[in-house]
Parts: sequence; structure tokens; C-alpha cells
Amino acid sequence: MILPIIAYGTPILKKKAQPVPSDYPGLGELVENMFETMYQAQGIGLAAPQIDLSIRLFIMDTEQLKESEEHDDLVPVKKVFINPEIVDRMGEECRYNEGCLSIPTIREDVIRPEKIVIEYYDEAFEKHEDTFDGLNARVIQHEFDHLNGVLFTDHLKPLKKRLLKKKLEAIAKGEVKMDYKMKFPLRK
Ligand code: NI
Repeated sequence: MILPIIAYGTPILKKKAQPVPSDYPGLGELVENMFETMYQAQGIGLAAPQIDLSIRLFIMDTEQLKESEEHDDLVPVKKVFINPEIVDRMGEECRYNEGCLSIPTIREDVIRPEKIVIEYYDEAFEKHEDTFDGLNARVIQHEFDHLNGVLFTDHLKPLKKRLLKKKLEAIAKGEVKMDYKMKFPLRK
């Protein structure tokens, strides 16, 4: 089932999400719905707050990026991250042009470390610790931020943020064209 994606300006996107209990009802179905929703919107990552659930869970699949020449050395990762903790951040600070399904039409450069170590549970509640770098580390850090109520626009310099203010307000009002289902906080 495709779920509507919550747009910029909705309070749940600014909230710290709650841990997922191991007996969370309908977890398998939720994960399935999130993948369906993400693929339909042509995203490579989706966090639970973006579908109106304030829980610490996100999914990613970087397979779709492999088709572009820029990322031909990428090892695609398709995974579910539950109650994740980034335990280490290493490598150079890298710049990459990010977007977000909750903030359609806006893309901006964000600086983040190149490599991370993350602890998380999978959908069977098995614990893992893995290291990711490059684009995979990029997506994970972006999605992990969503669980703490942080959006990529929060990483921008104040001047850049001011320049985007009108565009962001228009998104909150639903005055934006996109080809997937969304829910806007201020749409009349
Ligand atoms: Ni996002």
C-alpha cells in the first residue's frame, strides 16, 4: 500500500522519534508499505516520520543510483534500520547535493563525513554493526537525521536558509508539483 509522504512544515518531521519495541504490531507490513511508497516516489531512503509515524525506523535502497554513471563504483545497499545509533563518523567531510521526498523540488549541497559505523536492528530484531561509506553513508546520515527531527535544510548556512524560505513555505502550503502522493500541513 502506498502511503502519503508528509511534507515540510508538518510538526512530526521536527520531533524526536520513539524507539521501536520488538513486538511492534504489523512491522513486516509497515516495512513493505514503506518500500512500496519509496519506490513509487523514486526515493533511495525513507524514514518513518515521513509517513506520519514517529518511530525510529528507516529504509534505504541505493540500487537506483547505480544506473547513473556518477556512481558506477557504488555497492547498492537495501536495508531496514531499526533503533539505529551512529557510533562512529570518520573520513573526510564531503559535499553532496541532497534532496528529500518531504521537500520536493529543493536540492542543496550538504557537508557530511564520508564514512560511518552504525548499530541497528533488522526487521527480525537481529542486532548488527556495519560500516558504510560514500553514497550509502550519505543516505544513512540523512535518514538517521529524520529520526531526530532534523532535515537536510537544517544543515544549511543561515543565508541559504533565508533564500529558501519562500520556497519552503510554498511546499508547506502544497503549492508544488510532484508525481507522488503527499500530505501538506497548510494546504487549504
Ligand atoms: Ni529526507
